[in-house]
Amino acid sequence: MENFKSINPKEINENAVKMIGDRWMLITAGKSDSFNTMTASWGTIGFLWGKPVVYIFIRPQRHTFGFVEKENEFTLSFFSEEYRKALNICGSTSGRDCNKVEKAGLSPIFTEKGNVSFKEANMVLECRKLYSDYLKPELFVDSSIVAQFYKANDFHKVYVAEITGVYQK
Ligand SMILES: Cc1cc2nc3c(=O)[nH]c(=O)nc-3n(C[C@H](O)[C@H](O)[C@H](O)COP(=O)(O)O)c2cc1C
Repeated sequence: MENFKSINPKEINENAVKMIGDRWMLITAGKSDSFNTMTASWGTIGFLWGKPVVYIFIRPQRHTFGFVEKENEFTLSFFSEEYRKALNICGSTSGRDCNKVEKAGLSPIFTEKGNVSFKEANMVLECRKLYSDYLKPELFVDSSIVAQFYKANDFHKVYVAEITGVYQK
């Protein structure tokens, strides 16, 4: 992670709602020989089971889903505004059909553990899965969310993961 410095998760001094909801992020899983990445704007950063954690939500039809399922770890990469177009490309094309990383003009880099992020990112969270399950329609307290977001019955799988590393430029 050349050009990045490692910081403690408690030193992230950005508003998490803006970080995920406005800036968006790339969820990337796999290793150098085979990985995939996709844009996400739903998730949380918080604290659970005595650990700094993230929650991410992935629909099962995403190509990235198979990679996150298979691997124990993934990364969340955050970018400055100049990479909005790259994030739009990674959020509208599938790794199944094209080399979206090349299309988006991103350069893969690898953590010491072999997880994948991108040279152009300005913050990277390296995460280790702790818990996962599908959202279930019968458990929604506000069922209007089901009608609004899950017409295709494609309920997200939620992953709770420990933040094991934070790299910042
Ligand atoms: C701004 C934005 C936010 C997105 N957030 C999510 C998300 O949180 N979860 C999800 O499953 N898909 C999300 N998507 C959709 C995926 O990024 C998109 O379907 C992508 O093409 C999947 O690529 P893949 O098939 O290579 O995994 C988002 C897309 C955009 C543009």
